[in-house]
Amino acid sequence: MFIVNPKASRQPYPPSLQSVMSIAQANESRQWLSRWSGLNAGATPLYSLPDLAEELGVARILVKDESVRSQLGSFKALGAPIALVRLILRTFPEQQFHPHGLLEGKYADALADFTVISATDGNHGKGLAAAAQSIGCQCVIVLHANVSVEREQAIAAYGARIVRITGNYDESVEHAASLATANDWIVVSDTSYEGYEVIPRDVMQGYGTIAAEIIEATTGNSATPAFTHVFLQGGVGGLAAGIASYLWEQYGEQRPTFVMVEPRQADCLYQSALLGKPAKATGSVDSVMAGLACGETSPLAWRFLESSVDFFMTIEDDEAVAAMRRLAAGSARDIPLVAGESSVAGLAGLARLVKETGVAAEMGIDANARVLFISTEGATAPGVYAELLGESDASVLGRQKAWLPGV
Ligand SMILES: Cc1ncc(COP(=O)(O)O)c(C=O)c1O
Repeated sequence: MFIVNPKASRQPYPPSLQSVMSIAQANESRQWLSRWSGLNAGATPLYSLPDLAEELGVARILVKDESVRSQLGSFKALGAPIALVRLILRTFPEQQFHPHGLLEGKYADALADFTVISATDGNHGKGLAAAAQSIGCQCVIVLHANVSVEREQAIAAYGARIVRITGNYDESVEHAASLATANDWIVVSDTSYEGYEVIPRDVMQGYGTIAAEIIEATTGNSATPAFTHVFLQGGVGGLAAGIASYLWEQYGEQRPTFVMVEPRQADCLYQSALLGKPAKATGSVDSVMAGLACGETSPLAWRFLESSVDFFMTIEDDEAVAAMRRLAAGSARDIPLVAGESSVAGLAGLARLVKETGVAAEMGIDANARVLFISTEGATAPGVYAELLGESDASVLGRQKAWLPGV
């Protein structure tokens, strides 16, 4: 399924949005997180995959590999940690904590009773738990029925207390909110709801680091981007809003075309585009793409997406698995990549579109298109990854090592 967004704008980034999320604030977040030991040093790689571009009939494919952002294995290491830092700075202004000192655990004694809680599909919770452990505060994570045991163990390994419910993701969000009210804990969620926007804003703004690194690795301060299209996968819309807002502010009227891709069963952003307001998914919400299996659009994210995303589309689970396989295989000129279930929706979307020539032409996907994807996670559930691909992530990494020159 595919729709053109009639509300997409090519005006410069509006001041009304800039007052909520801006390059300046995103860059400050990046600076604060830069010395956190939970992140690997430096920018994540941006790879060009010339053989894949040739296969799909476009001029260039660029993939930003967030699997190596941190030992947590996903881009979510950029969101919850900075939101937690900003939350603590706001909650205890009189203490004059230093952001770097917070992440180094310097104030652990003062924060030993401070408790944060979140519902999660896995990656957000892992990021929050890891940051809470570094800072020295308490963390409770609510997991819905479909979060795998290996994802649960990965979160618990960072010292978080786990609460498991029988319902789905949206019910886990509600459960976390009621536990927070009952215990005087603070919810650190990556999705917004009425009256709750500051923390999800800080989470989304943390993702701006990815956009900043992409700009630095391509055109620097040039007025036009090195890519014509950005395919962004959507769960609640936070990743897409964080990236699109940064690139829109940077490039203004010259911004690239943004394409939103979601699992068919978890199509809340697609439905939002149809209705012209934040909406719920129409399907079962279950998807192999666990991070994208979200039933409700984040209203705050929607404020950014409604006027920046040009096209919305959905894909099937098996298309995502095929894209995982293609990236893992690599080729003579394409580096083999470990890309997890939620990381490849954009590539799967492009692979679908190039078969529908009319739609591709409408979107400007042709031999001149230069397409950017963000591979947002590695094998964050290694058992699931190996089962889907018939090959372990270690085996793919072995092939990657052999592919790299001089190794
Ligand atoms: C690996 C991965 N990619 C993409 C997303 C989508 O992010 P958002 O829910 O902010 O749209 C998620 C969300 O958990 C994720 O874990």
